[in-house]
Amino acid sequence: MPALAPALAANSLFRMHEYDDFEELRAAGYALVDEAIRHLDRSADGPVETLKSADELAQSFGPPPAAGRPWREVLADLREKVVDESNRLAHPMYMGQQVCPPLPLPALADGLVSMLNQSQAVWEMSPAGTMLEHELLRWFARMAFGTGGGDDALGSFVSGGSAGNLTGLLAARARAFPDAWAKGAPPGVVLITGAQAHYSVARAAGILGLGADNVVAVGTDPRHATDARAIAAALRSAAAERRPVLAVVASSGSTATGSFDDLESIADACAEHGVWLHVDGAHGASAVLSDAHRHRVRGLERADSLSWDPHKMMFQPLSTAVVLVREQRWLRAAFQQEAPYLFHAHGGSAAPDMGSYTFQCSRRADAIRLWVALEHYGTRRLGELYDHTCALAAHLYQRLLSSDDFQPVHEPESNILCFRWMPAGPGDDARLNDAQDRLRAAFVAAGRGYIVATTLLDGRRVLRVTLINPRTTTAHVDRMLDGLRQTAASL
Ligand SMILES: Cc1ncc(COP(=O)(O)O)c(C=O)c1O
Repeated sequence: MPALAPALAANSLFRMHEYDDFEELRAAGYALVDEAIRHLDRSADGPVETLKSADELAQSFGPPPAAGRPWREVLADLREKVVDESNRLAHPMYMGQQVCPPLPLPALADGLVSMLNQSQAVWEMSPAGTMLEHELLRWFARMAFGTGGGDDALGSFVSGGSAGNLTGLLAARARAFPDAWAKGAPPGVVLITGAQAHYSVARAAGILGLGADNVVAVGTDPRHATDARAIAAALRSAAAERRPVLAVVASSGSTATGSFDDLESIADACAEHGVWLHVDGAHGASAVLSDAHRHRVRGLERADSLSWDPHKMMFQPLSTAVVLVREQRWLRAAFQQEAPYLFHAHGGSAAPDMGSYTFQCSRRADAIRLWVALEHYGTRRLGELYDHTCALAAHLYQRLLSSDDFQPVHEPESNILCFRWMPAGPGDDARLNDAQDRLRAAFVAAGRGYIVATTLLDGRRVLRVTLINPRTTTAHVDRMLDGLRQTAASL
């Protein structure tokens, strides 16, 4: 019989929910771990993506039963209907979006984080989790702002780069328009960014009530990064027109091409006009961990806020992301509400209530999982993984340079690379654009690997890879290119 505290064993509701047999629970937990490891172990077998259609997948699932089913049955269905039909991100031929196969230990720690279920809103509800999160944020802030960040540099854990961008801009609004919380921002405010900025930047402008039409999106330079001179010109125009500027948003690692904006020049322009600089480093801020790539974010220490996703280039499970601010008081000012039932003094303790710095109330203690990863793997190893994935993109670039049938679109600055298939024959734009989509679709459908496509600002449709899998080697990159060629021959 179970080793359970007598008070719990006597609780009939608890018994009803089958929490009363710790041995059974432990076996169920082991089975779940086995399932997770089996997924990892078999990730290189078969196609990267499920070959089933949305309709076929939908048919696997019905409404939940009123009377629960035995665990064994549920586990079997979980394996067959969910795990085996899930995309295999750890497959070395997975070269698609900016979602990584997570490092295994933090992924496994996820179950423990859920079991603890600490809510990060207030210190009292998550004492250890709050302080761990707080210390990690201090570390992130030091990494981002260096000595440029004062004692007040901190931030918050958020669900991802989109929430990070919105939150950074809320802090910018609090500084630019202290009355905005109560009265709204004045009309005519603009937000200046690059045309290649992630869509969450314009979305934030919509959410903030600035109006997506008030986003001034400037063009790119030959590296596909935001043209820093165009940012300076946009700031001058806004000043001449007496239009207030909420912030400038720069990208450290753009989504489409992984290009890094010239933060130093953009910071100069912002300083001249006294405008808040938010850096979207969701993808590329992790370059600070890499000796070889740190230079790409030179100037980051001058940002006022930064979004940074460890669930991208620090190889953490979803969701692990932070927004950092040089001065935490603006993040506090961004969320001016009081909630006497939640936020109150803890008998004079200086412990922070992290819910004061985010629009979330209940919030998982994702920081615990990240702490496990940082403690076990260490920051140097994470930097090496960053380098490894960038080296794969550099390898592909070299292969493409010496190809007749494929062309790189840009030199990679990170682990993202766009390139084009250049089939023989008349090469009008529409035909070339269409060829990229046909090739990608056939390549993926044949189960040869997973890559994606995008459209650049000049209208060119291009193939795109994000080499974000530590298991991928240069041999797999070669196999991808060979696979594309073989697929192209059959079109
Ligand atoms: C540059 C950039 N910013 C923001 C985001 C959004 O991040 P998340 O998906 O974590 O919300 C992405 C996602 O790919 C991105 O590439």
